Parts: sequence; structure tokens; C-alpha cells
Amino acid sequence: MRITRAGWAVMTVLSTLIVAASANYLSFDPGAFFTRQRATYLSHELPLYVHIFGALVALLVGPWQFSRRLRERRPRLHRRIGVTYLLGCLVGGVGALLMAPVAYGGAVTGAGFACLAVSWLVTGGAGLRAILDGRVIDHRRWMIRSFALTFAAVTLRLMLVVVAVAHLDFRTSYTAIAWLCWVPNLLLACWFTRRRPGPEAGAETRAESGAAA
Ligand code: HEM
Repeated sequence: MRITRAGWAVMTVLSTLIVAASANYLSFDPGAFFTRQRATYLSHELPLYVHIFGALVALLVGPWQFSRRLRERRPRLHRRIGVTYLLGCLVGGVGALLMAPVAYGGAVTGAGFACLAVSWLVTGGAGLRAILDGRVIDHRRWMIRSFALTFAAVTLRLMLVVVAVAHLDFRTSYTAIAWLCWVPNLLLACWFTRRRPGPEAGAETRAESGAAA
């Protein structure tokens, strides 16, 4: 379960760029809204802002939890950032569940986002449960899965760039992207965190082992 430095750097830069790009919502100016959804967002401002505020926090701080240096040298900071990340997921996830039924593109899009939101809440909750029980390796597994889902905000926007460049039909593409932005991320994270035979298997101890960036 090792994230390379280069992989971590790419993940951190992309996450920070999407946070910066989405931060214009914090100006509370409807001019910044996803144009096709402006009227819907105006009538759902509270859940929208709740979602965006929580999700932005999670995406901003999440990558730093994978820094081994930070984990080893500043364990208390790692815990504080972890609590901030999980609160971001909770607030962002509840907001997302409220926004999913009104997502652009209809029921299939909404179902994609709703399943993402539920998976996001479940993985974060399982990660918290694991660390409270002292199951460090399980905690790391669940948090990798959780962040793979947070990272859907990045993959979604990268896919939208492809849609724009390739002049694909927006509505159909958006519906597909509501699923494609997270299912492959989650499958990859599950593969990455699969149990392997070896000294790590079954060693659900408090000891710090394995490594990230
Ligand atoms: C991972 C779980 C997430 C779920 C389930 C989710 C769900 C949603 C839904 C349903 C909408 C409304 C979409 C529409 O109107 O068609 C939305 C919009 C939005 N979300 Fe999320 N989201 C998630 C993560 C994030 C993250 C991590 C960010 C951080 C950048 C984010 C930022 C936004 C923004 C800025 C919008 C407004 C539309 C836009 O400009 O793209 N979301 N989200």
C-alpha cells in the first residue's frame, strides 16, 4: 500500500487546482453557478453551499493525510486534519445527498451522485470506526477508498474538459460521468488496498506500517 511521491504530488496539485476553481462559489455570486443549473441552484442555495463548503474542505486537506512525513513527525496535526477531513466529508456528503435529486440530467445522473454520496459517507465512517478501534491498517484502507471518492470531483471535471474538447453531447456525457467519475476510482482504490499475503496480512495492530508519500 504505497503511494509514490510523484503520484501524491499529482493528486495534491490536481485537488488544489479544483478547490481553487470551485472556490468562486464562496463569493455567493450566482454568476459563478454551473450555467445549466443556475435556476435550480438559486432555489437550493442552502444544500448547495453546505455541500460545496464541506466538499471543498475535504478536497483541500485530504491529500495531506497521505504524507508520511506529516504523519510521523506531526501525529497530532494528522489527527486534527483527519477530523477536519471527516467533518468535510460528512457536511459535503449530506449536502450532496440533498442536491442529487435535482442534479442536471435527471434520475440516472441523480442516482450516480446519490450512490457516490452514500459511498463517501460509508467509507469515511468506516475509516473513523477502524481508527477508534485501533485497526490502523484497516483505517488506512478505508481512508484511501474515501479519498478516491473525494477525488471524483477532480475526475469529473477532467472528464468535462474531454467532453468540451471532443464536442460530445453534454447531457448524455454528464449522465455517464455521474458514474464514471467515481466507480473506476473506487475500484482502483479497492485493488490498491486489497489484502496481500505477507507480514501485513492480519496484522491489525496499532503499529504504524506501510507508507504513503
Ligand atoms: C464525492 C462526493 C460528491 C458528491 C456525491 C457530489 C455531488 C454533487 C451534486 C449532486 C451536485 C449538483 C450537480 C448538478 O447540479 O448536476 C454537485 C455540485 C457541485 N459540487 Fe459536488 N459532489 C461531491 C464532491 C465534491 C467535491 C469534493 C467538491 C469540491 C470541489 C465538489 C464541488 C461541487 C461544486 C463546485 C458543485 C457545483 C457545480 C459545479 O460547478 O460543478 N463536489 N455535487
